Amino acid sequence: MAAAPTYILGIETSCDETAAAVVRRDDEGRGELLSNVVLSQLKEHAPFGGVVPEIAARAHVIHLDRLIEQSMAEAKLNFNELSAVAATAGPGLLGGLIVGLTAGKAITMAHDLPFLAINHLEGHALTPRLLSDCEFPYLLLLISGGHTQFQLVEGVGHYKRLGTTIDDALGEAFDKTAKLLGLGYPGGPRVEAYSKRGNAKRFDFPRPLKGRNDCNFSFSGLKTAVRETVNNLGTLSDTDVADICASFELAVVETLVDRLTRAFARFNEMHPNVRKPTLVVAGGVAANAKLRQAIELTCAKHNFTLNVPPFHLCTDNAAMIAWAGAERLALGLTDDIAFKARPRWPLDSVSAPIYGSGRLGAKA
Ligand code: KG4
Ligand code: ZN
Repeated sequence: MAAAPTYILGIETSCDETAAAVVRRDDEGRGELLSNVVLSQLKEHAPFGGVVPEIAARAHVIHLDRLIEQSMAEAKLNFNELSAVAATAGPGLLGGLIVGLTAGKAITMAHDLPFLAINHLEGHALTPRLLSDCEFPYLLLLISGGHTQFQLVEGVGHYKRLGTTIDDALGEAFDKTAKLLGLGYPGGPRVEAYSKRGNAKRFDFPRPLKGRNDCNFSFSGLKTAVRETVNNLGTLSDTDVADICASFELAVVETLVDRLTRAFARFNEMHPNVRKPTLVVAGGVAANAKLRQAIELTCAKHNFTLNVPPFHLCTDNAAMIAWAGAERLALGLTDDIAFKARPRWPLDSVSAPIYGSGRLGAKA
C-alpha cells in the first residue's frame, strides 16, 4: 500500500475536453477534490456537427500546460508535493491521448514521480468512490457521446462488460437526430428542450433490441427511422420537430428501461448475495431529465440504489482520472513510462469484440 495521504494530478485529453485536476486520498481511502479544471472545445467543433480529431489535438496542445498550472495553483501544491501523475491513455482519439500522456510523463520524469496510465472508462467507473462510500460490486451504466455500456465493477481493475452498443453511442444518437433536424451540436440538450412541447405518441419509432436476452444496445435503426420520417415530411414545422424529438426521446427511454431491467437481472444472477445493489450512472446523457426519471423508477422497482455523481463529474473531466490513479497507486499498480496511447482499450479485456461499439472505440 502507498503511504497516505496521496496527492494525484490527473490529465484528461481523450476527446474534446482538455482537463486537469488534483485529488487527495487519505489512508482510509476517502477522496477529496482539490481542483478540477475543464476546458470544453464545444465552440471549436460545433461548426462541423461533431468532434474533429485534428482540431481537438491542436486545442489540447494549446491549452493543456496552462490548465495543469491552474489546477496545481488551485490545489496549492508544487509538483514535488505530488505522489504521482495520472493521464488518460485510452480509449479515445490518438492525437489528444498523445498530448496528455506526453505532458504527464514529462512531469513524472522531471520530478521523479510514479506514472499512471489510466483507462478513461475506469475513470468513469470509479468516480462515485471519490465522493461517497460506494462499495464494490456495483453496476455502471455509462451513457455518453462516445460510449454506451453496462459494466459490472467488482474492484479496482476488475470489470466485466455486461453489454455495449453494437453501433452508435446513445449521445451520438441524440447528436445525429439533432443534426437531421437542423438543431445544431451538441444535440442532446436541444432534442430534450424541443421534446418538452412535443407529442411523443405521434411517431412510433423502433425500440431497438427490446426484449432481447442480453444487455446490448443499438441505436442506428432508430436514427434511420428518424431520417425516413424527416424525408417523408419534407419541410418541417416547429411542431413536427418537437413531435419527432418527443417520440425519439420516448423510444430511447423505453429502450433504456428494457436494457436496464436485463442488466439488473444479470447483476443479481452474478452477485445474489448483494442485498441492495447500486447502479452508478455516468456520461453526459445522464443530464436528460426523462431518462433520469425513468432510471430512478426502474431502480426503485428492482430494489437498486441509484448513485449519479454530480453532473460536472459525470461528463468528461480529469478528477475521475486523478481518482482512478489514486485508487491504482494505493494498490501499487503504477505504469512504465513507455506506456503507449491505446485508442481502443476495452475496460474488460475478456469480453468478445463487438463491431462498431461507439465512436471512440470502446469495443473490445
Ligand atoms: O460525457 P459527455 O459530456 O462527453 C462525451 O461523450 O464526449 O457526453 C456528451 C453527450 C453528447 O452526445 C450530448 O448530446 C449528450 O451527452 N447530452 C445529452 C444531454 N446533455 C448532453 N443527451 C440527452 N439529453 C441531454 N440533456
Ligand atoms: Zn467519457
